[in-house]
Amino acid sequence: MMPIRYEHIKTCKQTGARLGRVHTPHGSFETPMFMPVGTLATVKTMAPEELKQMGAEIILSNTYHLWLRPGEDIVEEAGGLHKFMNWDGSILTDSGGFQVFSLSKLRDIKEEGVHFRNHISGEKLFLSPEKAMHIENSLGADIMMAFDECPPYPASHEYMKKSVERTSRWAERCLEAHKRPHDQGLFGIVQGGEYEDLRRQSINDLVSMDFPGYAVGGLSVGEPKDVMNRVLEFTTPYLPTDKPRYLMGVGSPDSLIDGAIRGIDMFDCVLPTRIARNGTCMTSQGRLVVRNAKFARDFGPIDPECDCHTCRNYSRAYIRHLIKCNETFGFRLTTYHNLYFLLKLMKQVREAIMEDRLGDFREEFFEQYGFNKP
Ligand code: GUN
Ligand code: ZN
Repeated sequence: MMPIRYEHIKTCKQTGARLGRVHTPHGSFETPMFMPVGTLATVKTMAPEELKQMGAEIILSNTYHLWLRPGEDIVEEAGGLHKFMNWDGSILTDSGGFQVFSLSKLRDIKEEGVHFRNHISGEKLFLSPEKAMHIENSLGADIMMAFDECPPYPASHEYMKKSVERTSRWAERCLEAHKRPHDQGLFGIVQGGEYEDLRRQSINDLVSMDFPGYAVGGLSVGEPKDVMNRVLEFTTPYLPTDKPRYLMGVGSPDSLIDGAIRGIDMFDCVLPTRIARNGTCMTSQGRLVVRNAKFARDFGPIDPECDCHTCRNYSRAYIRHLIKCNETFGFRLTTYHNLYFLLKLMKQVREAIMEDRLGDFREEFFEQYGFNKP
């Protein structure tokens, strides 16, 4: 009874990227895949029906936020997160490990767990591997993440070594505390920052615990892109080939392609949804700030090459007007487009892997998107 199974379809001969399929208790999805973020049991402004329509098959939600509001007991009483939010596709929950570090300034890391303050009320809180597992078991996502420490960038080798060792001990405790291994897959999170020896140590520790999947954590925390790529190059080759690999917190189009080329199967990021609510769209020609005055009389679509619901029906001028007036519908239209854009990009990546031409696809995409410009 393994809740999560990775089926390998093929490896791109040009780049080594993996095409596969991940099976979960709520269906399956092809990889490489992007997971829209639904922090508070909603992908902001999108109905689950719309997510389905645009091709999303797995979404991410957050243990930390749902623990605070409405409380995991209420979600459990509703019949779990799938029922609570009316999403019958796959769900992954992050453990709170990252949010404690990104949202809380006052925190005290102990062997037992982390003491910190509620980012809204200031109230004292405590999260530990056992507590995170209890909450994630109550939420009932298909994939849950181990409770880890995500250190800032840069961190010294000395600090990172202590942190990696603690994260490994916490991973053991997570496995021990996990009460639903039959229908929820628990993924381990590799840490170690930019240090090759520590990434290797982290992998050795976690792989010996035999998780059904592995994440690469501690990236997209402010390091340069070449550092992320280098870390992936000395990390993914040591991960099991028969389990999914998930790069946490990455969602810019270039990093999705470069991650896939380095053997990553799953990604998540708030980027497409966050910038959408700010009036910024991802297009085949690069980022477009639709709030910009130059679009006031532009009656063409956000992206002429896009066939999403937004681009087929609404103009730049109209969307600019809505967003300038803080009209919710404007945020819905840009959010739909941005998510559609990334889901379609991943589909193009998968097709390119199938045809052994992901390297060529990368060149063409980077050229059009403007990543090759100095
Ligand atoms: N989200 C982005 N990076 C991380 C990480 O290192 N750990 C966890 N738990 N979540 C993340
Ligand atoms: Zn579109």
